[in-house]
Amino acid sequence: MGTRIVIRYLLIGLTVLTAFTATAQEATVSGPVQYPKVHCGDLAALQFWSVEIAQSVEQPAGPVKSSGKSTAQLAIEAPAHCLVTGVIDKRIGIGNRPYGIHFEMRLPDNWNGRFLFQGGGGLNGIVSPAIGSVKGPPALSRGFAVVTQDAGHQGTDASFGEDQKARIDMEYRSYEQVTIIAKRLLAAYYGKNADHSYFMGCSEGGREALLVSQRLPLEYDGVVAGDPGFLLGVDLNGEWSSRAFRKIAPLVDGKPDTDRAFTDQDLKLVAGLILKRCDALDGLEDGIIDNWPACQVKISELICKSAKTDKCISKAQADALEAYYQGGSDSKGRRIASGYPYDSGIGQPNWRQWKLRNNGMRNGVSPLQGLFLSPYDPNFDSDNFDFDKDPLRMVETGSLYRADAVSYSSFKAHGGKVLIYTGASDPVFSPKDLIAYYARLIAANGGTQEGQSFARLFVVPGMTHCRGGLALDDFDPLPALVAWVEKNAPPEKLITTGSPFPGRSRPICPYPQQSRYKGTGSIEDADNFECR
Ligand code: BEZ
Ligand code: CA
Repeated sequence: MGTRIVIRYLLIGLTVLTAFTATAQEATVSGPVQYPKVHCGDLAALQFWSVEIAQSVEQPAGPVKSSGKSTAQLAIEAPAHCLVTGVIDKRIGIGNRPYGIHFEMRLPDNWNGRFLFQGGGGLNGIVSPAIGSVKGPPALSRGFAVVTQDAGHQGTDASFGEDQKARIDMEYRSYEQVTIIAKRLLAAYYGKNADHSYFMGCSEGGREALLVSQRLPLEYDGVVAGDPGFLLGVDLNGEWSSRAFRKIAPLVDGKPDTDRAFTDQDLKLVAGLILKRCDALDGLEDGIIDNWPACQVKISELICKSAKTDKCISKAQADALEAYYQGGSDSKGRRIASGYPYDSGIGQPNWRQWKLRNNGMRNGVSPLQGLFLSPYDPNFDSDNFDFDKDPLRMVETGSLYRADAVSYSSFKAHGGKVLIYTGASDPVFSPKDLIAYYARLIAANGGTQEGQSFARLFVVPGMTHCRGGLALDDFDPLPALVAWVEKNAPPEKLITTGSPFPGRSRPICPYPQQSRYKGTGSIEDADNFECR
């Protein structure tokens, strides 16, 4: 190595060292700390701690392709940026399997001064393109520096559960590690820290968003938590309802196939009944149940009087659906599943996909039982799960996974904001659980006014898991969060549109407010609605 190169690398090392020791100084230095900038290509030379940078390359403006599953869908036009990929804690783990926290970061040339951690999904295990695409347009295109990661293992199934460290990384640790490394890379590249840091994710990613606001209170200024799986490893709604559906499902190869428990027409009948009983509760028959909390329906109304036709459902089907909606108790009468709201999304493909269709991990039949219902056990059979005794076995995983803390003093004091959303028809993580948690959060943080000054919940009628449903599910929470954090302008409503109702826009209101028609003007126009 020539002397000049050695000196150059020494300089880069110094830069990173300065960046890494910056946190303590930041409290005492007024004005932003400046670091020597490191060129994109030179970031790869930063081999530090247990971080290996695999590549750092300039990307011209143009389409970005996913390295993950949904390549075609995720292809977007990105602005010119620096792409950095790397791995933290690379190692060989249990079963001689390679592990590591793989990450990808995209640093746009036209940077807006903000950092965004894009949360994962499912059991993680893939590195999605770091474009900041969760809800709304990709954040990278808006000038955010974005990071994504695989949470410490590769592969979207539960088999990483055999490796203690892989579990820990998935449960909570990788989010902290990647936060620290991403912020340091960002500081090295731009020569300064981000002005503001955000986290946005849905489902598992929504859990991660809540997790970082609860466990890394000073690292993030704002988080968007969509349909959060914040009680993963704790809640039994999924298992309770899937057991009810398994009970009535026809057997295929000796196993219940819940996809065949209801025809599409059966589910449309149920959605139709719910709409008939509840659409007008908000004062307007428009295909949207804004007053879903008041919606109560007797599914038994649909039971066939004689032979099953496509105009009615069987008693067994009705009972299974009531088990889903009503939740249930163990044999001693202790409540173990809160159930789900009656809402219109049940007739939609996304509901079936999540609740009934047996496709690998996205599997209503056996919701990740080997990971969340017991200490890791690849042979675990959820049919043998004993609702009286076995919830105790969930404590080890649940206590590390759960993201339902209400202690927010440090997060609040530094101005942090939490924007939560969910579909009222989410069949995975029950909106009832989320609302109960939100009530607890608000109560523990000074009541309605003070609580809502930093945490707001938006419930989208008809929307299933993260998107889809009979819903206006196309909204953009990130700018609303940024305005709240940076301009102290709390989101009084989010404006939304969606393909089931072409040409329509509506407000989504901060819970417990609901959208109401003002009484005049087009019912397709959000301006003619208000939050009450
Ligand atoms: C999800 O991220 O979509 C997910 C995670 C765990 C269980 C079910 C869904
Ligand atoms: Ca209505």
